[in-house]
Amino acid sequence: MSRMGLRALAALVGLGALCGAAWADEEPLKIGLVGSFSGGAAQWGISVDAAFAAYQKQHGDSAGGRKIEFLRRDTTGPNPDIVRRLVQELISRDKVELICGIEFTPNALAAAGLSTQAKVPLLIVNAATTEILTNAPYTSRFGFTTAQIVTPFAKWAAKNGYHDVYAIYTDYGPGIEAGNAFKKAFTEAGGNVVGEVKPPLISPDYSAYIQRVKDAKPQAIFIFAPAADHPQIFLKAYRDAGLGEIGVKILATGDLTNESVLNNLGDPALGMITTFDYSEAHDSPLNKEFTKAFYATARDNTRPDFTAAAAYDVINAIYKIVDAQHGKIDPDRTMALIKGMSFESPRGPIAIDQNRDIVQNVYFRKVEKVGGKLENVEFQTTPMVDDHGNPTK
Ligand code: PHB
Repeated sequence: MSRMGLRALAALVGLGALCGAAWADEEPLKIGLVGSFSGGAAQWGISVDAAFAAYQKQHGDSAGGRKIEFLRRDTTGPNPDIVRRLVQELISRDKVELICGIEFTPNALAAAGLSTQAKVPLLIVNAATTEILTNAPYTSRFGFTTAQIVTPFAKWAAKNGYHDVYAIYTDYGPGIEAGNAFKKAFTEAGGNVVGEVKPPLISPDYSAYIQRVKDAKPQAIFIFAPAADHPQIFLKAYRDAGLGEIGVKILATGDLTNESVLNNLGDPALGMITTFDYSEAHDSPLNKEFTKAFYATARDNTRPDFTAAAAYDVINAIYKIVDAQHGKIDPDRTMALIKGMSFESPRGPIAIDQNRDIVQNVYFRKVEKVGGKLENVEFQTTPMVDDHGNPTK
């Protein structure tokens, strides 16, 4: 290179460093983080906090040369009115440029409406009803949909000796989607749904429903119930009614045996078969790194679960988006970057499709004891399933 060329290059490098310094002095990039940090689903907030802390410990607290500041807001549970108020304030008063989080479908629908109006991108951690993304062009999902998790399961059940199944699903968005997906795929594959009940989201009394199941004497129960406080209440009612002793098996989505409740469920959970997108026992180098970093930041012996994995992916996606735009957020450019994004997650490979929804592996797992600890041990995979439950490969 000529001396002139070298000088020009040195000037450019200097300018780059100056720009970097200028960005670093700039206001932090404000991002809203909305979800349950107290109440019956407070475990959600504990998982997200630890996953974000683990990621920032590994990658620092800046992206694209700009400090990232999360403004944390507590929904206290499924409360769309509270979410509307919190998100409205985040957008108009706090001037956040991006919103992430969200645990329950009703909260997601409220947040997605405001994201659409204000053109503020929303990256959903959980909230599993497919239709949340319809007519919400600035909203994307990094968790899962219930149709995605349930459809491969129903096909598998019909092929693996299950004929008569009783369906239990919570009476709101993700439950209704799970119930419909199960009934459709199971009956198409020759199975018979012998009855169904729909417990409410708030304060479900599973013992009343379990009695009806007992009277119907099915071979198995299919159940979708949201993580939070449902798994313990359901399993207690199942045990108290002695359904296990009369041979009624449980087929559930992994919300029921997620790692943050597994220790509390104890040995009665042994042998339960579930399908899901994440298991702490997933055998990959990235998951080993993730779980190690998670345990180093989590409080109260919290185990990494599906929410923690999705949150880790959301913060990773945010860093990629901010890096690609050098510290600035343009809503349309952000959504263009999200569509078609694919990367390795602690759960395995994931991709976001043109409809802004997640495509990922669905794992079949069985609760087993590994080294004295209850784990969801994966035994089969349906690769790269879309939000409707169809394999894309
Ligand atoms: C939801 O409301 O979409 C939801 C909440 C908790 C879950 C699954 C789905 O475990």
